Amino acid sequence: MAVDLLLGLQWGDEGKGKIVDVLTKDYNIIARFQGGPNAGHTLEFDGIKHVLHTIPSGIFHKDALNIVGNGVVIDPVIFKRELDQLEKFNLDIKNILYISRKAHLILPTHRLLDAASEASKGKAKIGSTLKGIGPTYMDKTGRNGIRVGDLELDNWKDKYRALANKHVAMIDFYAAEIEYDLDELETEFFASLKVLKSLTFIDSEEFIYQAQKDGKTILAEGAQGSLLDIDFGTYPFVTSSNTTAAGACTGLGVAPNQIGEVYGIFKAYTTRVGSGPFPTELFDEDGETMGRVGNEFGATTGRPRRCGWLDLVALKYAVQINGVTQLMMMKGDVLSGFKKLKICTAYKYKGETITHLPYNIEEHNVSPIYTEIGGWQEDLTKMTDASQLPKGLNDYVDFLEKELEVPIKIVSVGPDRTQTIHR
Ligand code: GDP
Ligand code: IMO
Ligand code: MG
Repeated sequence: MAVDLLLGLQWGDEGKGKIVDVLTKDYNIIARFQGGPNAGHTLEFDGIKHVLHTIPSGIFHKDALNIVGNGVVIDPVIFKRELDQLEKFNLDIKNILYISRKAHLILPTHRLLDAASEASKGKAKIGSTLKGIGPTYMDKTGRNGIRVGDLELDNWKDKYRALANKHVAMIDFYAAEIEYDLDELETEFFASLKVLKSLTFIDSEEFIYQAQKDGKTILAEGAQGSLLDIDFGTYPFVTSSNTTAAGACTGLGVAPNQIGEVYGIFKAYTTRVGSGPFPTELFDEDGETMGRVGNEFGATTGRPRRCGWLDLVALKYAVQINGVTQLMMMKGDVLSGFKKLKICTAYKYKGETITHLPYNIEEHNVSPIYTEIGGWQEDLTKMTDASQLPKGLNDYVDFLEKELEVPIKIVSVGPDRTQTIHR
């Protein structure tokens, strides 16, 4: 069986958690392949709202197995907190959540290094979630990292101490005003490691290979979005992993010819948290309306999300890089009530009209060129069938399908599991 992928096509927070939860009934295994607790994936069902950071969004389906793959970075402290939050659901965690031995650990000093690095950048800061993501991936590629499987070896604490000492020297080097009590952080870290060690560790690439041979259906859950990809995103205002389709191959050990459907998910408008270019960003009443109606606050940090019109130039690029086979449009309900909607179909870049993402996007050199389209006034949130969708929304979707040359198979009309319309 091929492995299907679900990927965010914008700057994150497209609604991946919700859709993975909706799709899980069709899959035996849900596997995260990159990122870490910088992610915040929200699920809503039965009146409960739940935010997951490291744990895959299939966790609430008792028949699904969830895997945290080798490409993920795990903070045992946040992981324990996530597990504590799940306690009330009485899940059989040891049997429905497996962890790759090759996943890297986020140490307390990685978090401190993230804070020191950001503080030293002043206005040029990335706007990191400060979860230690960048420093952990740096140690991974620098071949200094500590992996989950190391916890099963005798000498890992020596390795830990040497690395933590090096980090402390690096924090001093930044000379940033970071106050911390490492003893306290380490006490919490080592206590949380005990919980992590009580879980099931696997060689996930081998496990997934066998599962495929056994005919199991597998969905890989992306984190962040394509425009935050370390190679193809708006560098340096990106995260530190490959969030795009190729990341699923390296983050799970799945061969490229084993990838099946690539579900690409996007909001009907655009949002971004943190710093960096955002050509269609709005600073007016329309942007304020999107933020208020869409409740656009970061699921991990609580920061208000920047809002703007749909950027089709960026979206086309993401569809291309990922080889998207099916699209899903989220938060259609949030655009109800706008008289006119704008879609960015090209950029004015240094005096020229272009339809690709330029190497160097900066506020002063890129401005969006919009196509205007009529809106819709109807409340979508109670709709359950494609036949109920208003003409204005169908026109919007038709326009996007024509431009993107990929069918939009799901329109989401609210945060709940049930507010999902299949087309
Ligand atoms: P993720 O990181 O891609 O999983 O997305 P987040 O959970 O960070 O952000 C998406 C937010 O939008 C969450 O608060 C969801 O509950 C909410 N959401 C998802 N789909 C819809 C939708 O169709 N309509 C509305 N109004 N909210 C949605
Ligand atoms: P999900 O999976 C939105 C952003 C941060 C910052 C940049 C780098 O919920 O879509 P990092 O902590 O990775 O060093 O931050 O990336 N960012 C996200 N934005 N959703 C996310 O995840 C994000 N994860 C990181 O705001 O701009
Ligand atoms: Mg999120």
